Parts: sequence; C-alpha cells; structure tokens
Amino acid sequence: MALDPRPYRPFQAYQDTVLDMKRYWTRELYPALEQTYEAKAANVDGPPPKSATDVDALLADEPLAQYFGWLERHLQRMKYSGRLGLAPAFDHDRANIEAALEGPFADGVLELTDGFEQPDYYTAVDIHQHPGGVWSDELAGAVYERGARTTTPLMGRDADLHYRFTDQIFARAGAAKRLLDMGCGFGKSTRPFYTERRDMEVTGVDLAEPCLRLAALTATEDQARNVHYRQADAADTGLDDGSVDIVTSTMMLHEMPPKHIRAVLQEAGRVLSPGGLSIHLDFLSEDDPFKRYIHYGHARRNNEPFMPPLNEMDLDEAHRAAGLEPPEIIPFEEMPGTLDAGNTDWRFPWVIIVSRKAA
Ligand SMILES: C[S@@+](CC[C@H](N)C(=O)[O-])C[C@H]1O[C@@H](n2cnc3c(N)ncnc32)[C@H](O)[C@@H]1O
Repeated sequence: MALDPRPYRPFQAYQDTVLDMKRYWTRELYPALEQTYEAKAANVDGPPPKSATDVDALLADEPLAQYFGWLERHLQRMKYSGRLGLAPAFDHDRANIEAALEGPFADGVLELTDGFEQPDYYTAVDIHQHPGGVWSDELAGAVYERGARTTTPLMGRDADLHYRFTDQIFARAGAAKRLLDMGCGFGKSTRPFYTERRDMEVTGVDLAEPCLRLAALTATEDQARNVHYRQADAADTGLDDGSVDIVTSTMMLHEMPPKHIRAVLQEAGRVLSPGGLSIHLDFLSEDDPFKRYIHYGHARRNNEPFMPPLNEMDLDEAHRAAGLEPPEIIPFEEMPGTLDAGNTDWRFPWVIIVSRKAA
C-alpha cells in the first residue's frame, strides 16, 4: 500500500529527473568507468590491482571516477533530502499520513512494543541516507516505500525481485507451512509469501514501527488472515523453538555488524524445525578488484557501513556455530538478463545464501 503525499507537479518532475540521472549513472557512467579502469590497469607499472584498495589508488585522480562517486552519493541525497526530496514532501502532508498509519488494522495483524529499545548499531547511522533512518519518524515507512520504488532504477515492475526470490524459496520449500521473514520492513518482501501461499502462516519481524504499521495496513487491505507482524529484533524474535519451517530475509544482513549477523543466525537455528530452510537474499561482491571497489564505494557513499564486513565474514563458520549447514551462495538474477555476460550496467551483487538445519 502506498501512502503518497498530495500530488505536486514540481516534486514529481524533480523525482523523475533524479531517477533519469540515476539511469544515466547506471547505464552509461558505470560501463565508461569500467572501461577506463581496464585501460589503466592494463598499463600499470608493476603488478595489476589485486584489491579494492589498489583500484581506489589507481583511480583516485581520475575525474570520471570522482564524478561517478559524487553523483552516486548526491543523487541519493537529492532523492531523500533536497528541497523537493521525499522527506520534505511527506512532511508537508504529515497530518493525513500519520492519521492513515493509525489504522484500523485487521485483528491480530500487528504487535508493537511500547518503549521498544533499538540496538545501538541501528540508530548510529542514517541507513542508505534516509534522514533519521527508517525507524525514528512516524512517516519513515511511507517515505521508505516511496523511495524503494526507484532503488533499482532499471526495474520495470518494482516488486519483481521479491517475487523472483519468493519463487526460489517455494521451489525449495516442500511442504513447509510456517515462514519467518526477518527484517520485513514495510512488508514488500513479506507480501508475496502470504498472498501466493494463503495456506502458509507468515510472520514478519522488524525493528521499525513506522514500517510495520505500513506493512500491517497493506495486509489489512489485502484481507490477509495468514500474516502477523511483530516488532522484534531478528536476533530475538520471541518465537518458540522449532516453530517455523523457513527463515528468510531480504536485504537485511548487510545492514548489521557481523556480531549481530551471528546472533541472527543463532536465532534462525533455534526457531527452525529440523530440516528447516534458512535462505537470505543479500549482497556479496565476488573476488574481483573492480567489482569490490564499486561495492565498497557504494557502501561508503550510501551510508551502508556493514556491507564490507558482511562481504568479508566467515559465513560457513557463522552458520555451523548456529547449528546450520555451511551455506551455498548462489548468484541471484534480480531481473531477466542481469546475469548475462553481455550486461554492462551497474547492479548490486545479489546472492542467495541457502542453508538448512540438520534434520
Ligand atoms: C533494506 S530493508 C529491507 C526490507 C524488506 N525486507 C524488503 O525487502 O523490502 C532492511 C530492513 O531490515 C530491518 N532491520 C535491520 N536490523 C534489524 C534487526 N536486527 N532485526 C529486525 N529487523 C532489522 C530494517 O529496519 C529494515 O526494515
């Protein structure tokens, strides 16, 4: 469900312009930068770049690299915080949107906790340059929903990747009937589960009340009876031991430090039934210096400080310690054709991290 501010043409025109510039950055600037890098790397005196740091050093004085990085940071900033950015636009319509977020909600769909305490890592940074993060302002969920429509600028149908991931899960789900979506946000990752499988009992947990309210409104509008949203840390869900068959998350792991990821996997190991499926969609950059330079640069420029530590952590060990099998890491095609060798556009390094609890 979208809770948009009242239509205002300058806002729409500005947001469309920002999106067009992001497309230019994705389709034209990125391949040009890659070509520039390849030409420079082929001409270095001494050994070729081996790490993201080496690539950084090689491209530090390259105007195209500077322009690429500047535009990446500032387009996101313009999208959220500029005069016609998302946060100010929603603020103009605050009273209406806040009223909508009060419900009514379907019985039992939403469980919030008064005085809920957020983990420190979560409040320390405005994640992906969202002013105040996705938790501190009542409108943050609605703003995030609007922002997420253009996160991957080439995506035609914005919900597409979540349905593609859902297909991957259901292909492995067997007779599973109970699913936990960790870090469910405003329900975009959760909705395909409860709408595609009405016989499945779905729980979504997240830290952010503003997102959970929007998720619950959407489920109410969907007249769904098989979903329950609860404000909880994914590392401490409050669910019973062995009470779910699938634990999943979409774009959550890279938003937390390794210590917390280990705690989340422990929690997954605890709540999964024997033989249960652990399956997370996230970003892991392959061992290629240029790709890693781009990914780590994105992390810095977009306020995603935990992306590099996730990339470097020992996921085998973290899964084993949680009673889960060492995971299989599978590249994920978020849109048709994005994994084709001829694709030169910028993209996130999407992967699925799949494991099981011993039967
Ligand atoms: C990038 S969003 C993805 C939301 C949703 N899964 C989707 O695909 O649209 C990451 C979400 O993880 C949540 N999150 C971060 N740390 C968490 C934690 N420790 N426990 C539960 N949720 C967490 C954030 O509040 C945010 O809603």
